[in-house]
Amino acid sequence: PADGVEAHFERTIERDQRVEPRDWMPGRYRTTMVRQIAQHAHSEIIGMQPEGAWITRAPSLRRKAILLAKVQDEAGHGLYLYSAAETLGADRADLTRRLISGRQKYSSIFNYPTTTFADVGVIGWLVDGAAICNQVPLCRSSYGPYARAMVRICKEESFHQRQGYEMLMCLMRGTPAQREMVQDAVDRWWWPSLMMFGPPDADSTHTAQSMAWKIKRHTNDELRQRFVDMTVPQARALGVTLPDPDLRWNEERGHHDFGEIDWSELKRVISGDGPCNAERIEVRRAAHEDGAWVREAAAAHAAKQADTAGR
Ligand code: 3HC
Repeated sequence: PADGVEAHFERTIERDQRVEPRDWMPGRYRTTMVRQIAQHAHSEIIGMQPEGAWITRAPSLRRKAILLAKVQDEAGHGLYLYSAAETLGADRADLTRRLISGRQKYSSIFNYPTTTFADVGVIGWLVDGAAICNQVPLCRSSYGPYARAMVRICKEESFHQRQGYEMLMCLMRGTPAQREMVQDAVDRWWWPSLMMFGPPDADSTHTAQSMAWKIKRHTNDELRQRFVDMTVPQARALGVTLPDPDLRWNEERGHHDFGEIDWSELKRVISGDGPCNAERIEVRRAAHEDGAWVREAAAAHAAKQADTAGR
């Protein structure tokens, strides 16, 4: 009877145990997991574009090799997450169609341009740093395949963050022009990095339910605060200033206070009106179409293999 499976599901969540693909789960749990995992995967795939643009223009072979490895990791994270979504019955080709047609989202942060090579370092430091803040708790997410995917992704993400910070350290020991390049990139990426964590809890559609189902283990604002507290000393060590005059340590709270985020900017970027939204989707669509022949050839080859194996 339904109450048996529902009670089992509730107990699994209560005991911090994992929901696995073949377990019964509420329909809305399934759809919200597909929504979050798919959009996370889309973010990884689209995230290859901003920094990928610098692979051919990296200033040294070492920087090129590091950037190549990082962008390849992002692709792998995306494919890993599409596989996790497929355990819930989602179809990868359908998810790609939803991304290209705008019916599914990807992280707002990738709709900003990367105008200098310092952006690659700042993306590693701030964007991958924010991603780590968001993804470490997801290793304890209630849906098994997602939590396990996060464990591996977080290990690679910390390499991404460290290589970015190390690059910025080098630039900050360089010429005044290089130091200015870093500060300019920090000024452009700081607020969009805070927006990555989503709208404030009071305006968040899904946070309450996602916390109840232990999909999320902390709210958007809690993770945003954790990121600010973690990043301020790193900025000081780097010798850059964060572009927020209201940013200061609050002894009572034991956290940093920071200025008001421009939520209208996040709404605009999420609704498709950011600096690079059209370009990011156009590049993804073109890659999908240009790659159609490879998918057809692989499918034909697999069919022939199955056919000969069947004989
Ligand atoms: N960009 C785009 N859309 C966003 C967003 C952002 N920064 N923040 C929120 N949204 C969307 C949500 O998807 C939701 O829309 P939907 O119902 O159509 O999905 C709506 O705004 C309301 O937001 P909520 O806070 O209610 O939604 P969530 O509970 O899903 O929280 C989230 C948003 C914090 C992004 C959560 O989905 C999450 O933790 N996702 C997994 C992590 C993730 O996707 N990270 C992407 C970062 S990039 C990355 O990891 C790549 C790295 O290698 C650099």
